[in-house]
Amino acid sequence: MRTQVGIIGAGPAGLLLSHLLHLQGIESVVLEARPREYVQGRVRAGILEQGTVDTLREAGVGKRLDAESIFQAGLNIRFGERTHRIDLVDLVGRGVTVYGQQEVVKDLIARRLDDGGDVRFGVADVRIENLGTPRISFVENGAGETLDCDFVIGADGFHGISRGQVPGLVHYEHTYPYAWLGILVEAPPSDPEVIYCRHERGFALHSMRSERVTRLYLQVDPDEDVANWPEDRIWSELHLRFTDVDGFELTEGRIFDKSITPMRSFVAAPMQHGRLFLAGDAAHIVPPTGAKGMNLAVADVRLLSRALGGFYYGNREDLLAAYTEKALKRVWRATHFSWWMTTTLHKAPSGAAIEQQLALSQLAFIASSRSQATALAENYTGLPYESGW
Ligand code: FAD
Ligand code: DHB
Repeated sequence: MRTQVGIIGAGPAGLLLSHLLHLQGIESVVLEARPREYVQGRVRAGILEQGTVDTLREAGVGKRLDAESIFQAGLNIRFGERTHRIDLVDLVGRGVTVYGQQEVVKDLIARRLDDGGDVRFGVADVRIENLGTPRISFVENGAGETLDCDFVIGADGFHGISRGQVPGLVHYEHTYPYAWLGILVEAPPSDPEVIYCRHERGFALHSMRSERVTRLYLQVDPDEDVANWPEDRIWSELHLRFTDVDGFELTEGRIFDKSITPMRSFVAAPMQHGRLFLAGDAAHIVPPTGAKGMNLAVADVRLLSRALGGFYYGNREDLLAAYTEKALKRVWRATHFSWWMTTTLHKAPSGAAIEQQLALSQLAFIASSRSQATALAENYTGLPYESGW
């Protein structure tokens, strides 16, 4: 079998790249280890930057997003039981949009299949056999197959096989001493906007998926077992952490999804080796506090789709050669912002009094200084692509 671009992984990065290439008349095949239902059901990110929304709209996959998403003109930061609203639109002229990652993935899969795209779910033993003349081997329905291509894209997430094929890879890593317990709840959001809450018992986050579904997260120990968190414990902890002087009330409901996410910062460089390119979580991970992971995956594949277009239609190699440098510039900005949001809003398990006071001082500064709030808003809503970041 032969195609122009072989893509490993049908997450947001792999699917969107395949679609953006198709729009330019470039062929690809997507190889995904998991079944379609599993990929579509995986509950993850919820916040889309304006650039991500624009990219999806421009690519013609924004119809359901426009109908069902929830625009956020601001966000709330709660600490010392007081709530401070950051008016994103007022500060930087753009907001963010709540729309579940699995909805983006569903929309992209439906569109690829409608357009006759080749997305193969449930394939096993995917290997990059050769990078000189790129070849991927895999097993489908028990039979060995090969895919010859001009380029291989490793969009197979943090636990994928692609990153291991880049010789001399340097990686930067930090593991945080906490994790997030995330739940989906059948209940209307308790506030129309996202609330990031720093509390002496630990971080908590209020978000949503629709007018009927609330998304909530709690800081827990890094090695925590979800079984230790029965519903009544989750609710009593959430009520304590969200308490504010204005009498905020958290609406309870049936919990229908519960999972624990470890938190790490990870950046691998370079993101290219010959004709292999890494995109999204395969190359970098941020802790979820800044809501950047999926947005970075989208930014990577925008660059790649343009660079591949330049190669096929303009005989240009320069855009491909510049990929690592361009992508990493944005990645490092988001890595810093996510680390900063994370350490400022979470309780350090050491309980170090100095860390606590420094974080509280920083939050008070954001709440009182327009320039500080603007810097947060610029990063949170995503730096415009044309700004060079
Ligand atoms: P993935 O989504 O991981 O996709 C990789 C795909 O490759 C998977 O489908 C996997 O099954 C497949 N695969 C793996 N190995 C192989 C193999 N060997 N062969 C074939 N296929 C393979 N980001 C945001 O932008 N905003 C947020 O609000 C946000 N919140 C988050 C909250 C939580 C709780 C979590 C866990 C993450 C959050 N993120 C957020 C991060 C975001 O979900 C990821 O950054 C995003 O999924 C990255 O997309 P990707 O396509 O690079 O990787
Ligand atoms: C959500 C996830 C995040 O990581 C975040 O910072 C805000 C909201 C969410 O899942 O809705």
